[in-house]
Amino acid sequence: MSSTSTPVPSLPSLASLCAAASFTPSETAFPREESDPRAVYGAIRDELLLDGRTRLNLATFGTTWMEDEARRLMFETADKNLVDTEEYPQVADMEARCVRMLADLWHAPDPARATGCSTTGSSESAMLAGLALKRRWEHRRRAAGKDTARPNLVAGANVQVCWKKFCSYFDVEPRLVPLAPGRLHLTPDLLAQYCDERTVGVVGILGSTFDGSYEPIADLCMALDGIEQATGHDIPVHVDGASGAMVAPFLDPDLLWDFQLSRVASINTSGHKYGQVFPGLGWALWRDAEALPADLVHHVDYLGGEMNTFSLTFTRPASHVAAQYYTFTRYGHEGMRRLHLESRRTARAVAAGVAEIDLFDLFTDGSQLPAFAFRLSDRAHALGIHERDVAQAMRARGWQVPAYPLPTGLTETWALRVVVRTGFTPRLASLFLDDLRQTARTLRSHALVSTG
Ligand SMILES: Cc1ncc(COP(=O)(O)O)c(C=O)c1O
Repeated sequence: MSSTSTPVPSLPSLASLCAAASFTPSETAFPREESDPRAVYGAIRDELLLDGRTRLNLATFGTTWMEDEARRLMFETADKNLVDTEEYPQVADMEARCVRMLADLWHAPDPARATGCSTTGSSESAMLAGLALKRRWEHRRRAAGKDTARPNLVAGANVQVCWKKFCSYFDVEPRLVPLAPGRLHLTPDLLAQYCDERTVGVVGILGSTFDGSYEPIADLCMALDGIEQATGHDIPVHVDGASGAMVAPFLDPDLLWDFQLSRVASINTSGHKYGQVFPGLGWALWRDAEALPADLVHHVDYLGGEMNTFSLTFTRPASHVAAQYYTFTRYGHEGMRRLHLESRRTARAVAAGVAEIDLFDLFTDGSQLPAFAFRLSDRAHALGIHERDVAQAMRARGWQVPAYPLPTGLTETWALRVVVRTGFTPRLASLFLDDLRQTARTLRSHALVSTG
């Protein structure tokens, strides 16, 4: 494949349409015979038409738009295995460069000697960061002659499911602080009730999945300083910046949330969210080598080379790292700021438009992550309209807007959420608002008819 060819043709040829029409794939049994490649390709492509359209998917934080140059790089590196560092030293070096760039962006004490790695996404990063917190706690406890039973991790009940998985997979008690009316994420005032000598760490979320709000990381650290003074328990913080660690450095440079806070031991982000890379990439960074216990890092002799690995996986395509290196070098600070500012402006404008529709109340307004959550007003609920009705009606127009109950403490309350990413243009935003207004009118008139 030459470097100028396009990876996927934009229109199927007539020949492939005809071939696809005569091909019926097996649903269950492993096929006995070969099939014509054009027929198989056409049939699979046709079937995929039934999936939602990615640019109208306002449910996901995942990147759904990339420049052609980045797409091409992804395609051209898909046959390289990221772990074969001996064979593909350049892509390995690009990964290390990305880690150093992130360490610089997040104010690590010594970015040139940054400690971190790429992962398949923030979920894997959460496992690695959680393991490092747990192992460090165990080392400290053993050094003090204490037992290492019943470790716990403290976070808001709004944590993404990856932290619940971490706790369940690695035998850590999740201590999740429930939400309450007016409190949609972790706040510092409740930490003392949940932290004790067995707390391996506190997870602060920069960009809550449920409503896009930033948890107050600096205030959480300050509260933990107070706890240390009062009890002697020195509890580190991990920042889950799955989305926000790629947004705040560009849009909120004065916000204190990263390694500038000495209590922050590690940070994760998803390159495939506001890092502008298609799904499949995360990053985990530690403030320095000390924050990542050496006994978690494995030294492997592989295919003639020596390497250090700390991951839950092994083989991965080099595509995502190559694309991330592209987006970092292509956009730089200025370009990332431009893209995210556009998304935040759009999110705020759409949130303001939603607030003007009298059936809806906002939880958040898009001024932190370029995302916001809203709900139906009490009046709309009284008419018998549910958030699921709104999601369903919007889906009929192609828009994917999730409706979901809030986490523990507020499970009776449902939310709808809109995530704005690059590719959700002002034109799409205005069409979205037109459709939401129409949906509100239709649902209200149907509800009024059925309630008499
Ligand atoms: C705050 C937060 N943490 C972790 C994750 C999991 O990220 P990933 O999909 O990259 O594994 C998400 C996903 O939305 C998230 O919002």
